[in-house]
Amino acid sequence: MGDTKYSLRENIRKAAILLKESKFTTAYTGAGISVESGIPPFRGEGGLWTKYDPALLDIDHFLGDPAKAWEIIKEIFYDFFGQAKPNKAHLVLAEMEKKGMIGRTITQNIDNLHQEAGSKHVFEFHGNSKTLVCLGCHRSYKAGEVSLDHLPPTCRQCGGLLKPDFVFFGETIPELPLIAAYEATSISDVFIIIGTTGEVMPANQIPFLAKNNGVKIIEVNPQESNYTQRITDIFLKGKAGEVMEKLSKELFSPAL
Ligand code: APR
Repeated sequence: MGDTKYSLRENIRKAAILLKESKFTTAYTGAGISVESGIPPFRGEGGLWTKYDPALLDIDHFLGDPAKAWEIIKEIFYDFFGQAKPNKAHLVLAEMEKKGMIGRTITQNIDNLHQEAGSKHVFEFHGNSKTLVCLGCHRSYKAGEVSLDHLPPTCRQCGGLLKPDFVFFGETIPELPLIAAYEATSISDVFIIIGTTGEVMPANQIPFLAKNNGVKIIEVNPQESNYTQRITDIFLKGKAGEVMEKLSKELFSPAL
């Protein structure tokens, strides 16, 4: 599949041609697209799961000891990542959407950076950390409006436990992004996959389904992933910000 003995420049040129000719392109992103915004990935070098136990984000663990779970959740997702800003890769995807080159973005990320970069048609497979939801009355709060000085945070309306509105391990994927993702595998002719290992079910099935439907796969990643040798047609090996910067020059500069 993805020719890894290749020149990045040549592959970026090929990818730009594919994207310009595409009728409907879906961007499919993972934690890697936000690494250059200062948010570490989950796996691989410096990954969160090399420092924290993923069981932390298991729903039973959270419900069993919410105060303890919230201590780490606050440290990871609110103290540290709260200030992250979109990087060049998010901005290029938003520009591509504005120019009609991206139909929708399916993201596994919960950092809201696609929306902050200006992307409108974003579907969050794993929810969003910028919203907290009350497990008692289902009222939702903007994360910035709720003090995390006393944990666990509780609902001002009913006193119920507040939970970040992202999908914990053991929870189901919200229906809207699930439908949008499966639909994307049949209405797209190109997928651009950026920054994901392709390890986590069921999100990781989406690109395989797309490939089965004849979708052309462009992948951006500094390392090979579960997709590269199996379904990737054009592998753009490199960091998302750097590669998307180069790709944007091919896409947006007038043909010479
Ligand atoms: N640019 C692009 N990709 C990068 C960069 C970068 N600068 N740095 C790292 N990567 C790549 C890594 O090579 C890896 O393939 O990003 C990927 C990060 O992989 P994961 O941490 O596994 O992230 P992701 O695939 O999104 O994880 C899926 O796992 O824990 C759950 O819910 C969590 O949504 C997450 C899901």
